[in-house]
Formats: sequence, structure tokens, C-alpha cells
Amino acid sequence: MANWPNWLPIKESLRDNKVYGAPQIQDVIKLNTNENPYQLPKSVITELTNEIEIIAKNLNRYPDRDAIKLRSALAEYLSKDFLTAENIWAANGSNEILQQIFLAYANSSCVGLSPSYSVHPLIAKITNSDWTAISLKEDFTIDIPALHKKIEETNPSLIFITSPNNPTGGVVKLSDIKKIAEFIQGRSALLIVDEAYAEFSSEKSAIELIKDFPQIAVVRTMSKAFAFAGVRVGYLVADPNVISGLKIVRLPYHLSTLTQAAALVALNNVKLMQSEIELIISERNRLHAEMTKLGLKVIDSGANFLFFTGFQPKSQDLWQRILDHGILIRDVGIEGFLRVTIGTPEENEQFLNSLKTSLR
Ligand SMILES: Cc1ncc(COP(=O)(O)O)c(C=O)c1O
Repeated sequence: MANWPNWLPIKESLRDNKVYGAPQIQDVIKLNTNENPYQLPKSVITELTNEIEIIAKNLNRYPDRDAIKLRSALAEYLSKDFLTAENIWAANGSNEILQQIFLAYANSSCVGLSPSYSVHPLIAKITNSDWTAISLKEDFTIDIPALHKKIEETNPSLIFITSPNNPTGGVVKLSDIKKIAEFIQGRSALLIVDEAYAEFSSEKSAIELIKDFPQIAVVRTMSKAFAFAGVRVGYLVADPNVISGLKIVRLPYHLSTLTQAAALVALNNVKLMQSEIELIISERNRLHAEMTKLGLKVIDSGANFLFFTGFQPKSQDLWQRILDHGILIRDVGIEGFLRVTIGTPEENEQFLNSLKTSLR
């Protein structure tokens, strides 16, 4: 528990909170926050630099508050004929999108799954929203009847699904998402599908369902597949009514001119920016096979990371041994499991070697 001075009027609900975030350690191979390991292509850096030079002279002005150009470009990227800028909202990372969703729509209770992305309950807490989580089944799939029962009992205004799920990597079938969307028809509720890792998965996106189920809203990000985590761009794909609610809670001019311009440059170069996705997927599959050969149980993943178990040491001890080899992976706080982000082939090789010695 933090030692707050008496004069500090910290909210009662936050008094016991710890600061969220993975350890930041220098000079290690970073395989802990599911970033894309590849730097921006040279030609994109040049385009970005030129663009910044052009817009810099107008930085005395506020940005386009509604980020229309960016939202249109995102709609085009998704290339679905039923989507326009009106269906898209953009913010500083999908975490900010999630926060805006809570601010606008966490009316009654919120229901999520466990284990899943820990920032969902974290934002519930800081926005003073009620949060209940349903445990995933032993194979980390969703217990749909249990979720439906919880929805019946608590009548939530928000339901969160993450696919591919973080930290497990598991993919939720589109048919299951449809079942949940059908179940909430007639209720005042939104089904939020967090698809931060969608581009690494072969399952269809829930975006397709939006035209028939306007209660589905899909959260996406440029942090992973676009290798653009440092810029902070996330977006929501939803019915225009959902976007209207977010406009009420967003801070005025929340998305800087620099951010909007950088994102537009990236979207102008989608093929280049996403050219390493295939390699990351093949490395994920290779790593899965190699780790299985070491006797580990690796959960099937549709994302750019693997969640694994079946080792003798405590999670924290194995995490430390691997760190002693200069490789930082993630202990998500689930005993017996660790998560590793897929790096470059060289980084993955070093991880495998460190794992081999650390398991002995
Ligand atoms: C499931 C999920 N959603 C959202 C995010 C947030 O990403 P960002 O705020 O960088 O868009 C992450 C980041 O790791 C994530 O794992």
C-alpha cells in the first residue's frame, strides 16, 4: 500500500492502487510488451520527416479536433464498403479509446473475462466503474453460458472480449462473438471487442458484424502490426451513434497534429509498414514448436506473443533467470505461466537458448 501524505486528497478508491506498467529495464532484448521488433522502413522515415517539416509551421494552431482525414484513411485501410469516417474514432493509443468507452458508457456494471487484458479492469477502477470478470475455461476459451448468465444477473452496460486475447493469445471464434451480440440485443449494452492483435490472426474480424449488430464496437491499434507503438494511435470501429458518445467525453483537441500526420504517413504506406507480419507469424509458429520440444506447453496464439507453462521453477524465478541472460519477457502474475513477445529471428534464437539453460 502506498504511503500517501495526509495532505494529499487522493481518492479513496485509488489509495491502494499500484502504478501499472511492465518493468522498464535498459540494455536488454525486450520481449515483454508485445511490440513489433522491426524499426520503421527508411523511406517512411524520410516521408515522415518531410511531412513534419511541412506541418511544423502551423503548430501554433490546434489540430483538427475531429481528425477527419485520419478517420477516413483508417476506414479506407479497413476496406469494408459499409465503413466511412463516421464509423471510426481515433485517440492516443487504444488505451485512450478504452478509457473514453468507460467514461461514456460504464453506466451500470461492466463484465470482462479473466485472464485477459489487465488494463480493462484497471480503467474500470480509475473511472469508478463496477467490474466483474468471468474466468476463462481451462483451455482459455470463453464459457459462453456462464457469460450469458452473468449478463442476465448483472445487466452490464459494457461487456469486454479480447481476441486474440492477451495474455493467452487465444482467438475467439466469430460465431461466439455473434452469439454474445445476439444475447444482448434488446438490452442497453455494448459488446467491446478488443482486437489489438487482429492483423496477426487468421480469424475474421468482428468488424464484419457491426452492420448487423450495432452494439458491437471493435477496438484496434497501430501499436502492433503497424510497428508504430511510439506514436500512440488507437481507434474504434463502431456504429456512428457509439462514436457520438465518445465525442462527448474526449478532451478537446486530444489528438495532436503531429500524431495525426504521422498516422497518415503510416497509412499511406500500409504494405511497407506491415511487411514483417508474415515473418512474425512464421517465427511465432517456429518458437511454438521449439518450445514444445523443450517440454513446455504453449498455448495456441493468434497474436505476436506466446503464453507458456509446464516449467518447474516459479514464474518469477524463471523470468529472472531469463533476464540474467539479458532477455526481458513478461510475468503477468499468473503462477506457472510466462508470456514472451515474438522478436526478430536472432532475438528469438537468443531467447530459446536462454530458455534451454534456464529450464535445467
Ligand atoms: C489487448 C490490448 N488492447 C489494447 C492495448 C493497448 O495498446 P495501445 O494503447 O498501444 O494501442 C494492448 C497493449 O498491449 C493490448 O494488449
